[in-house]
Amino acid sequence: MTTASDKDRVWIFDTTLRDGEQSPGATMTHDEKLEIAGLLDDMGVDIIEAGFPIASEGDFRAVSEIAERSKNSVICGLARANFKDIDRCAEAVRHAAQPRIHTFIGTSELHRAIPNLTMDEMADKIHETVTHARNLVDNVQWSPMDATRTEWDYLCRVVEIAIKAGASTINIPDTVGYTAPAESADLIKRLIETVPGADEVIFATHCHNDLGMATANSLAAVAGGARQIECTINGLGERAGNTALEEVVMALKVRNDIMPWHTKIDTQKIMHISRRVATVAGFPVQYNKAIVGKNAFAHESGIHQDGMLKNKETFEIMRPEDVGLSGTALPLGKHSGRAALRDKLDQLGFEIGDNQLKDLFVRFKDLADRKKEVFDDDIIALMRAGEDADDHLQLVSMKVVCGTGGQAESILEMEVDGADVSAVENGDGPVDATFKAIRKIYPNSARLQLYQVHAVTEGTDAQATVSVRLEEDGIITTGESADTDTVVASARAYINALNRLIIRRGKMGEGADAREISYKDLA
Ligand code: KIV
Ligand code: ZN
Repeated sequence: MTTASDKDRVWIFDTTLRDGEQSPGATMTHDEKLEIAGLLDDMGVDIIEAGFPIASEGDFRAVSEIAERSKNSVICGLARANFKDIDRCAEAVRHAAQPRIHTFIGTSELHRAIPNLTMDEMADKIHETVTHARNLVDNVQWSPMDATRTEWDYLCRVVEIAIKAGASTINIPDTVGYTAPAESADLIKRLIETVPGADEVIFATHCHNDLGMATANSLAAVAGGARQIECTINGLGERAGNTALEEVVMALKVRNDIMPWHTKIDTQKIMHISRRVATVAGFPVQYNKAIVGKNAFAHESGIHQDGMLKNKETFEIMRPEDVGLSGTALPLGKHSGRAALRDKLDQLGFEIGDNQLKDLFVRFKDLADRKKEVFDDDIIALMRAGEDADDHLQLVSMKVVCGTGGQAESILEMEVDGADVSAVENGDGPVDATFKAIRKIYPNSARLQLYQVHAVTEGTDAQATVSVRLEEDGIITTGESADTDTVVASARAYINALNRLIIRRGKMGEGADAREISYKDLA
């Protein structure tokens, strides 16, 4: 159980699997959630918020299994302020060596209006629900949602009630990303000074990034006395996301001179988990994202390169190795063998079995035949592209003919549940024609929400990574693929998203993964 004993220790609470997964399109499969939880546990995350057990059977199963498997981390589930949610949550986390229930209610005027409770009625509800949770587990966290817009006196009153009812962690969420750093520090400091019993509990900060201040607000809250930061890998989360774990952890490490607090995160595991979360959630990391962006350690301009060669510290405030980037980026080529590929994968933090290596090696050779040098990013893209969901639909062959007026014709052959089907379609450009041909072969009403192309490396022979996000009846799925041919990558990404949609539809049919409740439904 977490205690307030080490005054300079900051507890890292990761909510990638709960707040992060709520991000539209970021849905992960059961196995992906277990894998990410394993990586979080392994990298030293103190508390993993594994899901919202009442939301769906899928969430419940994920939280339960993560609870059973976790070795070091506290496993936490989210519950609204009612007995049914809390009981379900307790049932899900009960096998964890260290279970925690996180229960919350919106306390600002706007949020009180949703369940239509008076201040007094809400105060009673908080007392009852925290007491109930505390009777089920020792470790209870309580959050007044939209705390940063809650009236000061009322906030103090409800925090005191939750502490008296047995909560050992009080989380202060900036739910809408409204606060600024000075306010964030001040709010925590004043709460600790004002609320009776505040020195007996840990204060947590949970910031959203709507104004791009989540990291600054979280660090300011720590300066104000908070000792738990709630965050996600790559800053995944609702709207503009949550505080990014890698940013707060590295800021505390690099600027320990002015922020004398520490975490127990193994920072060398950051890059690998960042890449895995980007892949499984289908959310590519912005190139210039702090710490984990592709350009975060790249030095392009001549003056920067010259400075770096003379003394790395000229332009580098942390070493790439500290976040798990391999120092060397020697490219592979068509003469590289399986051992060299395995070695590169090890350096990049991927552990793969012999069969997966065999399959990857075939695709690597195919790429190396088309591309002079195969860079680290090419290998990562190959790994990502190889993780297709169970394939109901497969691309067999394609040929695209482009005319001068922008019109194109796509001749496509696919396998649909084992049967060969082909189609020819015209469209405005090769991608449009190809997507139309796919829709002709596999008619569906999925709406294309996002189509994104990135060049993985430099040069005209670079691989393109394509992300496609589809939406059908509220189900959102993302597909990704990479190829030196952008149109082939686009076709594969679209088919990959459709495959995921088919799987999700099947599960919804069985009632297995339908999310009936969002954490915003406060009734
Ligand atoms: O942003 C928020 O307020 C939340 C709560 C459930 C803690 O995610
Ligand atoms: Zn949140």
